[in-house]
Amino acid sequence: MRPTQASFPATRLRRARQTAPIRALTRENTLSVDDFIWPVFVRSGEGIEEPIPSMPGVFRRSVDKIVDAARDAADLGIPAICIFPYTGLEERTEDCAGAWDPDNHANRAIRAIKAAVPDIAIMTDVALDTYNINGHDGFVENGEIVNDRTVEALVKMTLAQAEAGADIIGPSDMMDGRIGAMRSALEGAGHQNTMILSYSAKYASGFYGPFRDAVGASGALTGDKKTYQMDPANSDEALRLIERDLREGADMVMVKPGLPYLDICRRVKDTFGAPTYAYQVSGEYSMIQAAAQQGWIDGDKVMMESLMAFKRAGCDGILTYFAPAAARLLAGK
Ligand code: PBG
Repeated sequence: MRPTQASFPATRLRRARQTAPIRALTRENTLSVDDFIWPVFVRSGEGIEEPIPSMPGVFRRSVDKIVDAARDAADLGIPAICIFPYTGLEERTEDCAGAWDPDNHANRAIRAIKAAVPDIAIMTDVALDTYNINGHDGFVENGEIVNDRTVEALVKMTLAQAEAGADIIGPSDMMDGRIGAMRSALEGAGHQNTMILSYSAKYASGFYGPFRDAVGASGALTGDKKTYQMDPANSDEALRLIERDLREGADMVMVKPGLPYLDICRRVKDTFGAPTYAYQVSGEYSMIQAAAQQGWIDGDKVMMESLMAFKRAGCDGILTYFAPAAARLLAGK
């Protein structure tokens, strides 16, 4: 007997999921090695590759070892590397002068990578926290994080990085007016092509915990960062920050942390259509690694799923500690 109209589903959406080739054909988003920016930690010394206990698989490397890492990343096709300095308490001061020292280890790493691995883009971190005795991203006066004096220092830091050869400046400080100040300083110094990827919507998050260990800030930080980083309850405010930073001269914008803030990524992409990045931060990375080490989740599977989620949310790319591992998997290595 011929089935009646009502006896089978009118729409069989499972048809599009039946085989691997059909799934490939109907897939809406793709993840590729082109999507990755790899954050790395540089420290003083030579021949050092020191594991970070709270970030399994992540190391602090001396400049020579960072160059090797950059070469491996370029060989995997990773387009960009992002350099964060580790500084011991003895390297931190109240005036944060190390931040714009042309020979600090971040700037030495930039020069060394530029010379040895010219085909990888170099992104930097602009904020005072890794040079500040109290671990804050800005100068502290009478218990307050002061804005405008901090911006002047951030501009000096930016120029030192651009001089060293940085391709993409990454202000992660959340001070007001820094993007405009950096952009005009770069123009004035002949660095018209230096890009700015602004950490525009950066939340005051508990997910940064392992990073603060990685850069040596955990012991240094007094208080919290809530007077400059965003309240996790807010979403409209993120759009206002992004709009402001684009107007001041940012080329690319970032939402940070990543997975808990995918709704923000989607709103930003839909509203501005600008190059939009998310930072899958240290805590997100370490949660996945810890659960995988316990055997509670399949680490590779969750890594790839989490990275694809950023693409689905509209991101053009992801800063992720997984970059080399994911690149290897994508290449079938
Ligand atoms: C600070 C900075 C932080 C991160 C990047 N830059 C931490 C903070 O704001 O305290 C976090 C990155 C991560 O957790 O992976 N300028």
